[in-house]
Amino acid sequence: MPNSVVEQIKERVDIVSLLESYIKLEKSGANFKARCPFHAEKTPSFFVSPVRGNYYCFGCSAKGDIFSFVEQFEGLDFKGALKVLAERAGVELKPERPEVRTERDRMYSILEDVTVFFEENLIKSEEVNKYLTLRGLSQKTIKTWRIGWVEAEWHTIRDYLLKKGYTDTEMETAGLTKKTEKGYYDRFRGRVIFPICDSSGRVIAFTGRILHDDGKSAKYLNSPETPFFNKSKTLFGFDKAKNAIRTHDYSILVEGQMDLIMSHQAGVVNAVASSGTAFTIVHLNLLKRLSQRIVLAFDSDKAGISASGRSAALALSLGMDVKIAAIVGGKDPADLILQEPKLWTETLKHSKNIIDFYLDIALAKKLSGRELIKELKTTVFPFLFLVESAMEKSHYVSLVAERAGIQEAAVWEDLKKTQSPLVEQPITATLGTSKETPEQKIRKDGIVRRLSGIIFWQTAAKDKNIDPEIISSRIVEISGEEECKKILKSMEAIKEELIFEAESYHGNTGALKKDVEELLREYEAEHLKGEFIRIMSVVSRAETAKNAEGQKEAVAEAQKIMERLKKIRKNSEP
Ligand code: CTP
Ligand code: MN
Repeated sequence: MPNSVVEQIKERVDIVSLLESYIKLEKSGANFKARCPFHAEKTPSFFVSPVRGNYYCFGCSAKGDIFSFVEQFEGLDFKGALKVLAERAGVELKPERPEVRTERDRMYSILEDVTVFFEENLIKSEEVNKYLTLRGLSQKTIKTWRIGWVEAEWHTIRDYLLKKGYTDTEMETAGLTKKTEKGYYDRFRGRVIFPICDSSGRVIAFTGRILHDDGKSAKYLNSPETPFFNKSKTLFGFDKAKNAIRTHDYSILVEGQMDLIMSHQAGVVNAVASSGTAFTIVHLNLLKRLSQRIVLAFDSDKAGISASGRSAALALSLGMDVKIAAIVGGKDPADLILQEPKLWTETLKHSKNIIDFYLDIALAKKLSGRELIKELKTTVFPFLFLVESAMEKSHYVSLVAERAGIQEAAVWEDLKKTQSPLVEQPITATLGTSKETPEQKIRKDGIVRRLSGIIFWQTAAKDKNIDPEIISSRIVEISGEEECKKILKSMEAIKEELIFEAESYHGNTGALKKDVEELLREYEAEHLKGEFIRIMSVVSRAETAKNAEGQKEAVAEAQKIMERLKKIRKNSEP
């Protein structure tokens, strides 16, 4: 890649406005700060320098320039990021000379060339155009999504690509042909073709739908896994949905190609679909980076309902805010939109939080007493069990107790006995997380580091904005004298660095007191979470030892911790 293109892009793309299109930035002295997109945190540790054109996160050490940001954020390689940024900068990427193209580049170009071939075939086929029109797709949509067609022949793809100079090995690697003893033949035959793109919009695979369901061949056929296409990592429509997911601050998950394209055509463009596979943790993590909030809109049939249960469970276990949009009066979103696009937006408007959704269904059965509890245990608790944050969980426990008219303590008690069959759980303690996660540790270390930095900085400063004694005595109150001493001692070695850090964080903001309060609140929350984990292991030990008394005491203590956490959360709401 000639350096000049990279340089041109760097000149034209300002890091602040680029990052602002991904995350919320706040001015902080000469720099900007944000909550880091690469690890979970509440207080911003992610800094952007417009002068140096780079970013750095004090929490997780992520750092780099505009290219590495796009690579990291969008899960792209360098050339993918280059494509995204070139479009943004209005810099034209010249096609590379064929002889210097790498194997990888040849793969992208074979996929691009065959996409054009499919598109041209579609234009020529009246029957297929008629079919797509009947399904409700406009000409504009067909063009935007680059929908294509391939005749029911054995070698048209191969012949075309041979003429273009590609080898049989290349076609096979790209997932376009299959090899048998008698030679190569086309994988897609007589199918409407939907190209699947990566996050920068490069075609990486295809889904083909047969024109008329004959009950014999699979209705949808996907490219096989290739070096470029991993079903469980790719979301159909992601490249076209990502910006809207950020700006709307939620994503919509649908099941099928047609659902997705129809949704976009109806103006709901923050939607994505999986490509012929169930939603995985990787899919959900991709979406989570853009927004914590997700709405599932799956088919109204039995398979769809159970698939949405599974995906909801996964999303909950990632700490996402999950809603369900129930499809009523049709079989799937594509069907609703074909009837009337407004039905789709209405459906989304009526989506419900997952716990409310299942609670409503359970309560609608008008059961009471034991029967009601039994119903809740099978339909609501498996989800409630998965709510990741202890604070959220306690919020829902109160809600369930209130709406079902049962004691909160009884809900806790039953929840403890719940196993979630929905996702595999390595966790034995059932009230919440039983182990400190690496993310949690990073977060806690970051908070401790920043508080220590402020203490050192203010102790050394002539004009003090805050009395460092007050900070350390709060730490003592929260976690004890010993712990406070230990912290300051362990930070002593990097004191100078911390002072510098604290000064550049808080020097010009005039919000030091507020920042310190927030940090202390987070410190206490992290401390309580640790306490909670500790007490939960006491609970399970007492359980194993059949020590009912001890177990009861520990559960009561766990609830107290939860109450305190709840209170802290209330205080930190804006
Ligand atoms: N699918 C698949 N292989 C199949 C059937 C379905 O990969 N044999 C995937 C496709 O991505 C499809 C999605 O599952 O879009 C939803 O399947 P289904 O609900 O059966 O498809 P419909 O929505 O009925 O498809 P259409 O509207 O095109 O009839
Ligand atoms: Mn469907």
